[in-house]
Amino acid sequence: MQTNDFIQANRKMWNETAAIHAQGYVSTLWERIKAPDYSTFDAVERRIFAQIGLADKTVIQLCCNNGRELIAIKKAGAKRCVGIDISDNFIAQGQQLAQYAGVEVDFVCSNVYDIGAEFDGQFDLVYITIGAMGWLPNLDAFFGLIARLLKPNGQLFIYEMHPILNMFDASKGLVVDSSYFRVEPFADENSPDYYEPTQHVSTTAYWFPHKLSDVIGGCLKHKLNLTHFEEYAHDLSMVFAAFEQLEKKPPLSYSLLAQKQ
Ligand SMILES: C[S@@+](CC[C@H](N)C(=O)[O-])C[C@H]1O[C@@H](n2cnc3c(N)ncnc32)[C@H](O)[C@@H]1O
Repeated sequence: MQTNDFIQANRKMWNETAAIHAQGYVSTLWERIKAPDYSTFDAVERRIFAQIGLADKTVIQLCCNNGRELIAIKKAGAKRCVGIDISDNFIAQGQQLAQYAGVEVDFVCSNVYDIGAEFDGQFDLVYITIGAMGWLPNLDAFFGLIARLLKPNGQLFIYEMHPILNMFDASKGLVVDSSYFRVEPFADENSPDYYEPTQHVSTTAYWFPHKLSDVIGGCLKHKLNLTHFEEYAHDLSMVFAAFEQLEKKPPLSYSLLAQKQ
């Protein structure tokens, strides 16, 4: 398969997932998202957003899904919010949610690798969360894009699943299943949905394992200076939630801040 075949398969899978989420957790989001104090931030994000200061910031979220997090960022005081996602169904869901929430958020349906120069140098903050980077085959190009999007001194905030989790199959527990250094993508076939595990997603999708050094190296190569990095024992994905209960556990998530030179 060529890179674009993987990306188009993933787009199809995410469009299928959007319909499952619309019937599931999103049906309970409509009322909550209208509240002025609606938020998706956990303790880590509250601390980091307080440090960054969202007021008057221009923010772009890559792989924003239905914008549930970006809408929280807008409600927390950001000036302009742009969300990019490859799934037209999730982008449509995001537009409806933002309208319902009473906030202005710009949603753009695009493969991140197809973003041209139109957004270059416009953002104080690039935001990436929970299960975004594993869908992307080329992290070097992704960090190049991030560097282009940021204004000078702009910041990158990543809050993601820890790459060590690629060694494990959540259904088998803490048993090494893959090499940390694996490069070929995982093909997820007929997998349970992460929000609605009783429902299975029929489209085969492709998940790309990346090392932590691919993330840190991407920052270094594209002159994004690390200002914060922390690893956590809490899961963000829901898929690995059971690992939180283990006495001897691997790192489950991390946060990273970097500033453009
Ligand atoms: C796990 S979801 C992100 C969830 C989000 N952080 C949240 O908690 O609501 C991953 C998203 O990445 C998007 N995505 C995958 N590949 C992409 C690509 N090449 N370009 C843009 N978006 C992509 C998918 O459509 C999906 O909405």
